[in-house]
Amino acid sequence: MCGIIGYLGHKEAYPIIINGLKKLEYRGYDSSGIAVFYKNGYNLYKTKGRVYELEKKISSCKKKIKGTTGIGHTRWATHGIADHINAHPHVSNSNELIIIHNGIIENYYAIKIILLKNGFTFKSQTDTEVLVNLIEYLKKENKLSLEEAVRISLNEIIGAYSIVVVEKSHPETIIIAKLGSPLSLGINNKEFFVASDPISFINYTKSVLYLKDGEMAILKKGKELDLRKIIDNHRLNPIVKKLKINLKEIEKGEYKYFMLKEIYEQPKTILDTLRGRLLIPEKIICINGVEFNKDIFIHAKCITIVACGTSWHAGLIGEYLLEELTRIPVEVEYASEFRYRNPILGKNDVIIVISQSGETADTLAALKLAKKKGAFVFGICNVVGSSIARNVDAGAYTHAGPEIGVASTKAFTAQITVLILLSLIIGKNRSTINNNRYKFLCKELGLIPEKVDYTLKIVDSIIRKISQIYYNVNNFLYLGRGINFPVALEGALKLKEISYIHAEGYPAAEMKHGPIALVDENMPVVFVAIKEGFYNKIVANIQEIKARKGKVIVIINEDDTQVNMLADHVIKIPSTPEILSPLLTVIPLQLLAYQIAYIRGENIDQPRNLAKSVTVE
Ligand code: F6R
Repeated sequence: MCGIIGYLGHKEAYPIIINGLKKLEYRGYDSSGIAVFYKNGYNLYKTKGRVYELEKKISSCKKKIKGTTGIGHTRWATHGIADHINAHPHVSNSNELIIIHNGIIENYYAIKIILLKNGFTFKSQTDTEVLVNLIEYLKKENKLSLEEAVRISLNEIIGAYSIVVVEKSHPETIIIAKLGSPLSLGINNKEFFVASDPISFINYTKSVLYLKDGEMAILKKGKELDLRKIIDNHRLNPIVKKLKINLKEIEKGEYKYFMLKEIYEQPKTILDTLRGRLLIPEKIICINGVEFNKDIFIHAKCITIVACGTSWHAGLIGEYLLEELTRIPVEVEYASEFRYRNPILGKNDVIIVISQSGETADTLAALKLAKKKGAFVFGICNVVGSSIARNVDAGAYTHAGPEIGVASTKAFTAQITVLILLSLIIGKNRSTINNNRYKFLCKELGLIPEKVDYTLKIVDSIIRKISQIYYNVNNFLYLGRGINFPVALEGALKLKEISYIHAEGYPAAEMKHGPIALVDENMPVVFVAIKEGFYNKIVANIQEIKARKGKVIVIINEDDTQVNMLADHVIKIPSTPEILSPLLTVIPLQLLAYQIAYIRGENIDQPRNLAKSVTVE
């Protein structure tokens, strides 16, 4: 959480920083701030709220902000409320050092006490202000250069950070460092761009160095990059990569919100995730990360899937897929629980971590714990080069492209697509799936992108109608069974996070063990009731809700005639084998959440209290 950006070069820094911040807002939008440096001074602006508030504040000052070094920050509050005092950049007591920070300094309080004893004072409640003053203290006490003071300070702190530090009197140098939180450095002909996410500077350069944990860099105007290890100042060779993202992928285009764009991108993103992996008509599936480690998967006694939020829901779907197709027992764990309960893991255990951002702090910590205990860790990540992607033993990217809307949509279906491919490969190699079924599922999987496209076309108008009727209710229930139970959980999560309507997902049969007490004529209940599998059972569950006057919204197959008669509202989708059905059933649920939030006038891409990348635990 929090987005940071910095620039050092020959261009005016302000437009680069402010436009970069707009692209980083998905990481947090409680407050924002910038500092642009000129010889021996700087202009500093901060405000509560979003970047456009900051821009408004700056333009109302009518002061020209000039300077070729600049830093900016957009905050997701951890220490201290979301106001302009806690907003970054933070300044040291002497006014000499200015810092932006993403992460959490766990031992900040102990350091603060020492600094207070040494006469330092603090304006904000943040851990970051403590860090900048620690740097100042060590610099003055020991007569250190800025880079050495930063390095030694970082060796004193416990926690996670990506930081940019500038000295007022030497704005031609900036120091950056990383541990735990992401930091990328864009390089263009001795011009430097630093950011939590390279999408914020992609229109200036595609040459990027991803700093690794424990690395810092000293950037000097017009000079080559100087990369070092924080622990011992050892000089490192920078490895610069070429980014493949194109600008269109990070723009809204004709769509009002990124979330809607990303929902509509799913036919393409699923196809991209299948590309080169599912070869039709030969019906060959190949994922390199699986191919090179086939024996580990084939002989796995059990598989544990670890993730958070929507990725955890994809993991639950993965449990159904893997158990059904490979007959290997699977457990699915919240990363935040897994990492703190001393899990029993050993050498032959297989852990699958799933993460869109590849930066989720709990998932990353779970991964590290699993590796430490000797398990084999396979990653399913969307963001190329992210911390999780770099730390796993092997993995598969989801190729969904940048997901900017805070509510995850296309990453979810891409994760499920990878899990289907993985289950089919392992199942085939373990002979737990016969050749006919394998071929049939490969063929049907190949048809999914087209069917998603068709679904998007046919469900749009009915979902708008349903949303108009229910946008003002206080509660929603989502019910599904089998592989569509996690889809019900995901539908409920989508609705609550962007519309703030309370919503719960349950396995349909669990209703009568408690939640049915909530049902009355005001309660909309969404059923995923596709024709295979549990169809008759779910029809009975629908009748139970109708008997209590609940309003029933069903997602059914196009050729269904039975549920059609029972429900208040019917959303029809094309048929596919049940095991692939989450890729279709989730589409109307994403759209329903979107339309309801839209009618309620919510800020869909930036829902309150949330951030896209949860880099704190
Ligand atoms: C919900 C959502 C979150 C994320 C969760 C994990 O729409 O986006 O629940 O799924 O924070 O994030 P990743 O997948 O980046 O690890």
